[in-house]
Order: sequence, then C-alpha cells, then structure tokens
Amino acid sequence: MSNKIESHHSDFNAVITGHGSYAPPGILTNTDLAKMVETSDEWIKTRTGIERRHICKDNESTAQLATEAAKKAIAKAGLTPEQIELIIVATITPEMVFPSTACFVQQNLGSKKAWAFDLAAACSGFIYGISIAQQFIESGRVHNALIVGAETLTKITNYKDRTSCILFGDGAGAIVIEGKPKEKGKTQSGIIYSTMYTDGNSWQALNCQAYGSRNPVSKPLDDPKKIFMEIKGREVYQQAVRRIVETITECLEKCKITIDDVKMIVSHQMNARIIESAAKRLELPDDKIFININEYGNTSAASVPLAFDQAIREGKIKRGDIVILVAFGAGLTWGANVIRF
Ligand SMILES: CC(C)(COP(=O)(O)OP(=O)(O)OC[C@H]1O[C@@H](n2cnc3c(N)ncnc32)[C@H](O)[C@@H]1OP(=O)(O)O)[C@@H](O)C(=O)NCCC(=O)NCCS
Repeated sequence: MSNKIESHHSDFNAVITGHGSYAPPGILTNTDLAKMVETSDEWIKTRTGIERRHICKDNESTAQLATEAAKKAIAKAGLTPEQIELIIVATITPEMVFPSTACFVQQNLGSKKAWAFDLAAACSGFIYGISIAQQFIESGRVHNALIVGAETLTKITNYKDRTSCILFGDGAGAIVIEGKPKEKGKTQSGIIYSTMYTDGNSWQALNCQAYGSRNPVSKPLDDPKKIFMEIKGREVYQQAVRRIVETITECLEKCKITIDDVKMIVSHQMNARIIESAAKRLELPDDKIFININEYGNTSAASVPLAFDQAIREGKIKRGDIVILVAFGAGLTWGANVIRF
C-alpha cells in the first residue's frame, strides 16, 4: 500500500535545479460561473477560496501547457532540452488515449535523448513523479529528469454541475532534478524523503469513467455524465484533511525535524479550507502555508508545481530551505516529498 524512499543509501543527491510554470491566458471568474449555474462569487470564495481559474481554448492542449512550463524549468536549470534524459508527465487529462502526453512534450522540446512516459495518479501525480525520478537519479541511471504536472481539467468538467464546476482550472508546472555527488561533511540538499499511498477501494469518491475499457467509445453510455469528472465533495473533504495531517506528521518524524525546521508546506490546492484546516491541526503558522488557489482553482497534477514555482519566484522559498510538498486526490492517492531546496 505504501512506499517510502529515503535518500541516504545513494552517492548522489537528487537536487532541484530548475522550476517553471505556465497557465493559459483565458480566465473564468466566479461571476462568469454564476451566469452558468446557480451559485455566487461569495459562495465560491467563502467555501473554497477560489476567485478565478485559467482555462484553455479548444485548440490548447495539455502537452502545449506542459511544454511551456518545461521550457522555463530547463532554462532555469541552465540546461538545454537536448540534455534532458528522462521526462515524466503527471496528468489525468492526456493529449489523447495514446501515445502518452510525455511523447508530445519530448517532441515539442526536441529532447531527443530523453525517454518519456505519463503518470496517472491524479492530484498526487507530481509527488509520485518526483519520487520516481529521485530513484533513477540516486541510482545513477540518469543524470537529470524533467517532471511536469499538466492538466486541462476544464475539458472534462460538467458546467451543469455546480458542486464540481466551480473547482477546476487548467495549467502546468515543471521542475528539473539533477544528480549531484554527495559531499562529505556538508548538509545535503535535494529530495530527502518521499512517501506515497493508494486506496483503490475509494475510487468512486473522485472519477471520470468514460472513455476507457469499462466504458468504450463504441458503446452508448448508460449515463452521459460519465464523460465528466464526478466528485463526492464532502467525503473527499474529510479524507483530504486527515491524510494531509498524517502524511506531514510522518515526514517530520522520519526526517527527525520539527515544523520549526520547515520553511514552507506546499500543498495540492483543492480547497483553501481543506489546507487551512490541516494547517490548524498541525499548528502551522500562516506564513508556512502557501495558497494560490484564488488564482488557479484546483488544477490536479499541475497544482503543486504551479504553487511551488510561484512560492520560489516570490522569494518565499530560498536555497537551503526545507520544504514539504504534499498532495491528495483521486485513486485515492496521497503522498509527500521533503526537499532541502
Ligand atoms: C465541493 C465543496 C466545495 C463543497 O463545499 P461544502 O462546504 O462541503 O458544501 P456542501 O457539499 O456541504 O454543500 C452545502 C450546500 O451548498 C450547496 N452548493 C453546492 N455547490 C454550490 C455552489 N457552487 N453554489 C452554491 N451552493 C452550492 C449544496 O447544494 C448544499 O446545499 P444544501 O445544504 O441545501 O444541500 C467541498 O466539499 C470541497 O471542496 N470538497 C473537496 C473538493 C474535491 O473533491 N476536490 C477534488 C479532489 S482533491
């Protein structure tokens, strides 16, 4: 059920050397949504913290958003796309059934040397992606990896369902991780600890059922709404708070650190109230929690890297700081990475 990775058995540290994000310019405000379903700006803001979300046009795709974020992360790392050796794209809104979105990102970037694949772990996809890349880097199999979280969730959102359509937006975020030899006697930077969990029994809490092998495109759907995301909001809310608290507590214990050692917790942005309620239980001061859901809504796998990139650009995370990335989402899946940036 769970998988934990600690970095001390390796000769290499998996160090984050680049970061970047991109959101499409199109904006959907709460007031726009109030013209589509029975809701209000006030209700959405107070219940979720969301004020607006970025949305794709019909001709904008997940790989395009991913490529823009990736270019910024690679440039920030001081690398060229040709030097990238591994590309992982975390997404639940892929370019098409196959090939993977990662193949299109590899094509767009011209990263001929890289092997590339997608990772479908919903909102936890970026966290899972980091832990997978961490292993390839620490084992010396690759020198660097590009990890992207990218989504076009508005393409599978039911704009007739007010309980879900208010939540989701589109965007992408990326990081580059490089293997750096460990230096004796020095504080090690990089990914310190990763932990991941899955509970397939609760898959019905959050899903999008068509079109896959259970509901193939060749057969009429028993419920046409199956082409859209379905969420059991109240159920997810409780679970999310509990799992975030548990996972962060585990990270602190395993890494033998306290909240005082942590500069920032960057959580998946699913609902500001969920994040705040987890923060309260952990007795976290407000300045250790990064929230940007007001601007982007919930962007699933893109959410953590979008927030992480913004927090760094705003100077809220600096080199040497300890940061915990944490996520919870469909699967159910959840997990965290502890990083010394
Ligand atoms: C969806 C979510 C915002 C709903 O907020 P909530 O405070 O739990 O609200 P409830 O579902 O209890 O609904 C309260 C009332 O508001 C109504 N309501 C729901 N959506 C509404 C909307 N957009 N506008 C106005 N009223 C709305 C409900 O119908 C309900 O009315 P009732 O009391 O007459 O039945 C919240 O549960 C949530 O964020 N859940 C997790 C989100 C999620 O699943 N994210 C994806 C995975 S990470």
